[in-house]
Amino acid sequence: MRILVAGGAGYIGSIVAEFLLNAGYEVVVYDNLSHGFRAAVPEGALFVQGDIGDGERVVETLRRWPCQAAMHFAAFIEAGESMQDPFKYLRNNIAQTIAFLEALLAAGVDRMVFSSTAAVYAPTPEPLTESSPIGPTNVYGETKATVERILMWLHRTRGLRYAALRYFNAGGATATRGEDHRPESHLIPNILAVALGRRPYVEIYGTDYPTRDGTCVRDYVHVVDLARAHLLALEALSDRPVMVYNVGTGVGYTVREVLKVCREVTGHPIPAVEAPRRPGDPVMLVASPEAIRRDLGWTPQYTLRDIVLSAWRWMQDHPEGYSAQAISPAPQALSS
Ligand SMILES: NC(=O)c1ccc[n+]([C@@H]2O[C@H](COP(=O)([O-])OP(=O)(O)OC[C@H]3O[C@@H](n4cnc5c(N)ncnc54)[C@H](O)[C@@H]3O)[C@@H](O)[C@H]2O)c1
Repeated sequence: MRILVAGGAGYIGSIVAEFLLNAGYEVVVYDNLSHGFRAAVPEGALFVQGDIGDGERVVETLRRWPCQAAMHFAAFIEAGESMQDPFKYLRNNIAQTIAFLEALLAAGVDRMVFSSTAAVYAPTPEPLTESSPIGPTNVYGETKATVERILMWLHRTRGLRYAALRYFNAGGATATRGEDHRPESHLIPNILAVALGRRPYVEIYGTDYPTRDGTCVRDYVHVVDLARAHLLALEALSDRPVMVYNVGTGVGYTVREVLKVCREVTGHPIPAVEAPRRPGDPVMLVASPEAIRRDLGWTPQYTLRDIVLSAWRWMQDHPEGYSAQAISPAPQALSS
């Protein structure tokens, strides 16, 4: 079985591609490299540089390398930026996804695992279930909620089978692949960049939230646990045509608690500076992962400490991220 992995040169997509290959799937990574890295594409995967909005290129790719399912990681991911430049997000995450879906269905690919997010929810102090109210606090979250609704209508009208996985905060690394976002807005790599000497301090955005220590609470899920969830969802599509699942641990940590774990793991004091709240930041996002446990048997294997340890190892081994890394000798498919 061959899988088209859109956004497979990015952080999560490249690690899922690695897992798919290890599980015996063939993989075609399709990515415009706007934020991904050629060096992140695993050896053994075909690589096509292209935009998901370029329907002709998607159809041509699928004509040459027919795929039975797609995984869709390709999106812009910065909630803060989405409030500054909403059209950038509406265009890339919604309009280009519509073109992508049209091309997939035209080429006969009617199975998809889609990267959704906890940012689709209206934040509440309770753990979020899949039936908690949808109410994004930023444009980025809105783009994902909209795509989920589009998937539902394409299921009803065109028979699309899909799993929308609402990730909470992804973190951690494998031995060979890790997080290299530019710019980096995620807490753990930014804290660890201080320990590596790349930043003088880390900012804590908002210390007056109604939480146990005044800072935001998030649910951190190891990228390897996420990758397992993707494989389980892909395999379940034969029996379950529509799946919408939270992928989180059910445990929330404040920013200060994450900082403490990072200080323990690195042995570095990691100075922190208190800064104002960022617009659109929800106070608390914690999953109830009960539905995916019940239906697919998925449970997280890794703790926050494991996430920090693996991320720290990867950052020490790859101080320049993917920049200095050799490109795997995978064949370049389709000339760009
Ligand atoms: N990182 C997280 O904690 C997190 C949490 C929730 C949801 N998600 C979702 O997971 C997915 C992957 O996130 P990530 O952290 O790996 O991001 P990333 O930026 O590392 O990867 C996204 C990839 O998509 C590619 N891409 C973007 N727009 C494209 C387009 N129009 N055509 C082709 N390729 C395009 C980029 O070049 C990049 O390689 C995203 O959809 C994101 O919204 C991530």
